[in-house]
Amino acid sequence: MAGKGGRIARVAVVEGDGIGPEVVREGKKVLTTIAACTPFQVEFHDAPAGGGVYKRTGSSLPESSLKTMEASDAILFGAIGLPDLPQGTAEIAILKMRQHFDQYVNLRPVKLFDSLRDVCPLKDRFIGPGIDMIIVRENTEGLYAKIGGQIHGDAAANLMLYTKVGVDRILEYAFELAKADPAHAKVTSVDKANILACSQMWRQRFHEIAKHYPDIETEDFYVDAFCQWLIRKPYECKVVVTENMFGDIVSDEAAYLLGSLGMAPSGNINPKGISMYEPIHGSAPDIAGKGIANPIGAILAVKIMLSESFKENAIAKAVGDAVEAALLKGRTQDIAKDGMPTLSTSEMGDLVAGELRAALKK
Ligand code: NAD
Ligand code: IPM
Ligand code: MN
Repeated sequence: MAGKGGRIARVAVVEGDGIGPEVVREGKKVLTTIAACTPFQVEFHDAPAGGGVYKRTGSSLPESSLKTMEASDAILFGAIGLPDLPQGTAEIAILKMRQHFDQYVNLRPVKLFDSLRDVCPLKDRFIGPGIDMIIVRENTEGLYAKIGGQIHGDAAANLMLYTKVGVDRILEYAFELAKADPAHAKVTSVDKANILACSQMWRQRFHEIAKHYPDIETEDFYVDAFCQWLIRKPYECKVVVTENMFGDIVSDEAAYLLGSLGMAPSGNINPKGISMYEPIHGSAPDIAGKGIANPIGAILAVKIMLSESFKENAIAKAVGDAVEAALLKGRTQDIAKDGMPTLSTSEMGDLVAGELRAALKK
């Protein structure tokens, strides 16, 4: 691995649309800073995907980009989606990538830094001892299994499909995560077993697999009630495992507990293959081009990349610490605070890179 075996880390970069390129630039800045201060070396290879490249080439995921990704160690992804294209035209690219690379885990950590309790929309007593959960979203099956669905005249249908193999592997991943980390030694399963056959199989497998992890506390919730618990007692959530569409929805709700969708990272992970790292937010056309997007989600996605794809756990921790330190000195407008400098996207990235440089050079 780069820095360890002397090989240079190859990172394919999908800038994407809207604020995608703006936040990806800051993610790359962090990786470049690491390369300047440590033996970890990195090279970037552009792999365009999304709405912009669709307009230029007629494909939102050109074959040449896929080849670049296949030749990489990891993928850094911004966001895709353009409001002037038909629904799904750009977005299909990310789903194809998840399927193509079998990135069946979507890891979405939601951690509220102590210094940011003021931006959490909850009253202090609901934040309690603090928010630090990891949402594990199934990422290749469910309603996303056969992308597209069908429209027949006045009727439309999508198929929710789960396989036992697909359910077991994501549940096992969640339990292993809980087992490896005493701070997250509890798994909450979120389903809709009171109505959906897929969820009934999910719940049954959850309890079966739980038997192999007697030291891990478990609980299950229906997704509707879980949405309530998420804002009522968010501090009780540790590892939360759920199916694809529920995970998409509850992770945006959870992310806003951090005061902005711009704060939350995600890893689309194939533990034995090529993984993709991105902020959880979209292309945010309402703020694109203004230089005000929050790049912390993209930077924390780089943190996940460092630990998951490159096993550089110490550097990954340094990135998290640098983000925390930087947020004590300035914030982007979405999480602004009176008396503290309000920073542009690139200024926020510079501040994190500066903190990181100082820490790595010690
Ligand atoms: P969005 O996540 O782009 O934006 C939702 C809200 O959050 C907006 O008000 C936006 O300004 C704000 N926001 C998002 N990221 C921010 C950041 N970094 N800093 C500050 N504020 C931020 O969701 P949307 O508006 O529903 O979708 C826009 C487009 O993005 C659509 O085309 C959608 O399909 C696509 N999308 C793509 C991805 C992806 O690429 N992974 C994810 C979600 C949505
Ligand atoms: C996400 C997004 C995607 C999803 C869209 C853009 C296809 O919302 O990554 O959270 O639904 O998974
Ligand atoms: Mn989403």
